[in-house]
Amino acid sequence: MTAFTSSDRVQNVLRHSLRPSTRPPAGMISLASGEPDFATPEHIRTAHAEAVEAGATHYAAWNGAPDLREALAGHAGGPGRPERTADHVLVTHGGSGALAATILACVNPGDRVVIPVPTYSLYADLVRMAGGEPVLVPQQDDLHLDLDAVAAAAPGARMVAVCNPCNPTGVVYSAEELTRLRDIADRYGLLVLADEAYDAIVYEPERFTSVLDIPGLAERVLYVQTFSKTYAMTGWRCGYLVASPDVVAAAAVIHTRMAGPLNTAVQHAALAALTGPQEPVRQMMDEYRERRELVMQLLGDLPGTPLRAPDGTFYAFVAHDPRLTSVQVAANARERGVAIRPGSEFGGEGSVRLSFATDRETLTKGLLTLRDMFEEMATP
Ligand SMILES: Cc1ncc(COP(=O)(O)O)c(C=O)c1O
Repeated sequence: MTAFTSSDRVQNVLRHSLRPSTRPPAGMISLASGEPDFATPEHIRTAHAEAVEAGATHYAAWNGAPDLREALAGHAGGPGRPERTADHVLVTHGGSGALAATILACVNPGDRVVIPVPTYSLYADLVRMAGGEPVLVPQQDDLHLDLDAVAAAAPGARMVAVCNPCNPTGVVYSAEELTRLRDIADRYGLLVLADEAYDAIVYEPERFTSVLDIPGLAERVLYVQTFSKTYAMTGWRCGYLVASPDVVAAAAVIHTRMAGPLNTAVQHAALAALTGPQEPVRQMMDEYRERRELVMQLLGDLPGTPLRAPDGTFYAFVAHDPRLTSVQVAANARERGVAIRPGSEFGGEGSVRLSFATDRETLTKGLLTLRDMFEEMATP
């Protein structure tokens, strides 16, 4: 029997992928996770249970339940924004499903996609899966967009993909940056993929501007969103795309062929999340704010590059001794019992990402260990 060989597509993704394949072992303090530690709010769980009891156990509509799509269109088309209808919305299997369907629907083999890094690594993997070429453009020293470099990479490209607020850096891009990005997209005819998974996790005084609020961008925008982070719903797998009806129809071809419609009862739960009380979201935000303070108290004055307080997300991106690789620093932390992620997984060598989506007691223990580690590293 011949040994199985995976397709060139799979091998190409694996050869270049920055994504890790391991989870921290049990018992280790994990500051590595990208998921809220909170339970999904009760009214959302109840809506799900009631939907199941009421018989919502059959296939949903292909592109998503009409009432959910309409509610999402209303949400995306809020005051001062171009109007959106259900035809602008595709409900997907998590934000990941939206990213995959969108990129596979829009990127041809050989197409270049400009990706400012460090960023979420899935974009580059999916571009490769589509046969395209990710063009990784480093951000400025302050981790904001290097728009001159984006403009230089833009001629002939198909798309630019941005994560805002940014995983892993915690930076929130300003309205001015997004407006300049729009101008570049207009000039070179780029699609603008905007993943705003963390838009609800932004710390005062920072103000978040969505791409949906940038005038004149509506036709180019591929807006990807998920219920995972805002509502602590990572395991429910509900996300969505908002884009022009042509793009939505194309992405739906990929999404429905690959996975069919999203779980029916989960869509009832998502509608409850969107239209129900937002107090639980505010409570989670209050807790993230406290934890962010804790991170800054314990790591804010490390020797070397000062840690920037994240504007958004539940990540801190900590610069380390440049004589070491980020993989070495993460391995060192692991030996001390704390899991964190090397910046290289995000195209951000020279830093490590730590997550504060964990309870304060665990977080404090992990931060104190990391503080010792960074201080020892700084000692000649
Ligand atoms: C920026 C960003 N986008 C999308 C996702 C994927 O979200 P989902 O769990 O809904 O697939 C993640 C998950 O970590 C993320 O960090």
